[in-house]
Amino acid sequence: MTQANARPVIAVLGAGKIGEALLSGLLHGGRQADELLFTERSASRSAQLTETYGIASAGVPAAAKKADVLVVAVKPQDIEPLLDELAPAVRGDTLIVSLCAGLPTALFERRLPAGTPVVRVMPNTPMLVGEAMSAISPGKHASGAHLATVEELLAVVGKVVRVPESQQDAVTALSGSGPAYFFFLVEAMIDAGILLGLPRAVAEKLIIQSAVGAATMLAETGEHPVILREAVTSPAGTTIMAIRELENHGVRAALLAAIEAARDRSRELGRVHEAD
Ligand SMILES: NC(=O)c1ccc[n+]([C@@H]2O[C@H](COP(=O)([O-])OP(=O)(O)OC[C@H]3O[C@@H](n4cnc5c(N)ncnc54)[C@H](OP(=O)(O)O)[C@@H]3O)[C@@H](O)[C@H]2O)c1
Repeated sequence: MTQANARPVIAVLGAGKIGEALLSGLLHGGRQADELLFTERSASRSAQLTETYGIASAGVPAAAKKADVLVVAVKPQDIEPLLDELAPAVRGDTLIVSLCAGLPTALFERRLPAGTPVVRVMPNTPMLVGEAMSAISPGKHASGAHLATVEELLAVVGKVVRVPESQQDAVTALSGSGPAYFFFLVEAMIDAGILLGLPRAVAEKLIIQSAVGAATMLAETGEHPVILREAVTSPAGTTIMAIRELENHGVRAALLAAIEAARDRSRELGRVHEAD
């Protein structure tokens, strides 16, 4: 902390889509603009963010000097030049929070001062609407207190779970890519509405609200999905006819195989960053 009992100063390095969503969420969650900072490469993007949120921009070395928590939100392929700038500037006690898909905590630990605490996060795109699912994992030097700081920080933009870093490839496949599977399903169901002769706008409204309603029931009732599905599956009714077709077409097996393939791809991409 910069002062005793003061809240940590948080700098977001790379305020693109995810970085901006986090800054906006932190402001909505009660952080003051002067507790936040960001770095951006483009001057016009910086000016636009400062105008919108009243948050100051800084260069990477200045942000590293001032902030207690550095949230790294650049694309994974942009990490090396950022680490080059960060390594000589970062204080040893600064908490590094990486949102970069596939980058292991060991990469930051190798490149930053010895003992730097690092927490790796896998968020997902619903962070843009304050409904992210984030999974966090500690690096070698991150304590329970560091994890609690990151949980508090991310709670303003969604839900947070702790997982060992070895499970991050599974998380990437499940909740990282998860929104895309739901979008795919919604798209297919809208097509089904078109097939049945409904106007597209009506089909879209029916399916999107059904998705919102189903998600809200899952989140709010805490019931198992099987129980919720059985409640709308009456004997010899319409739903069971549809379920039989889904099973005949192997939809459950397809989901298992699809998510396993995503996990394998995440592992493969991560190998690039294994220790040299
Ligand atoms: N979007 C998602 O759904 C999602 C989900 C999970 C995880 N993530 C992770 O979140 C991270 C950010 O993703 P994003 O979609 O928000 O990407 P993005 O929109 O491209 O944002 C990255 C921002 O960082 C800036 N930047 C790059 N290098 C910089 C540097 N050295 N100093 C300062 N700023 C720098 C970029 O500027 P330029 O535009 O000039 O390059 C860009 O504005 C990625 O690592 C990604 O893996 C994203």
